[in-house]
Amino acid sequence: MSTIFRKGPLPRYYQLKEIMREKMRIGEWKPGDLIPSERELGEVYGISRMTARQAITELVNEGLFYREQGKGTFVSQHKITQQLIHLTGFTEDIGARGQRPGTKVLSAKMVPADEKIAQILRLEPGELIFCLQRLRLADEEPLAVEQSHLHFKGCERLLEEDLEKNSLYRLLETKYGQPLMFAEQELEAGLVSEENTLLLNVPLGSPALFTRRTTYSERDIPIEYARSVYCGSKYTFYTSLKRDQ
Ligand code: GLP
Repeated sequence: MSTIFRKGPLPRYYQLKEIMREKMRIGEWKPGDLIPSERELGEVYGISRMTARQAITELVNEGLFYREQGKGTFVSQHKITQQLIHLTGFTEDIGARGQRPGTKVLSAKMVPADEKIAQILRLEPGELIFCLQRLRLADEEPLAVEQSHLHFKGCERLLEEDLEKNSLYRLLETKYGQPLMFAEQELEAGLVSEENTLLLNVPLGSPALFTRRTTYSERDIPIEYARSVYCGSKYTFYTSLKRDQ
């Protein structure tokens, strides 16, 4: 879409927002670029300055643009996008964006499964599982805190792995013979906890996206249950929806 329709159900400011989003998505406007002024946008798209201002302001509020006094409006650094249709791990998501994934292991140990986790991983409570807490980074910037609980035969060998250098998903698939078949994931909005505020280096009260993912191996066996907290301001979840015919 590159034209603004005068008739139709979509407000003009909204159409302009979509046009600008598309320009960022296809890379025509890159992070740090100065975007055209309200007047220029008004002329190009045949809309009023007020309409252009509303579209820009909303994208500023959504964090996609930022304003600099006396200089204009610029495109913000990209939020990281996680596709919600493909089962990908953090390392893959960040790599796909051309950024350098990083991991800091906060703790890695074998612990007895509590009732809830035992139920999800289909174990008896008290059975030993591998519990891993990691801070996940992109280009050195903290993005998420993840707590993974894993169970499969030989999972204790993960204690010996360098999980700062290696992707967990990759290890599972290439070294542990655990093909990842599918996952179920829940998403919830909330606030970053005080403890995670420090780890993620964001102000107290910052928005967070919580995910809970159960990943299944062959024969529908659950092997990982992970709870993650993503910085709401740095992360976008993307899903494409198809209407049933
Ligand atoms: C995502 C999932 C986690 C999974 C991780 C694997 O972040 N939410 O459940 O453990 O990817 O990432 P990696 O392969 O980079 O270790």
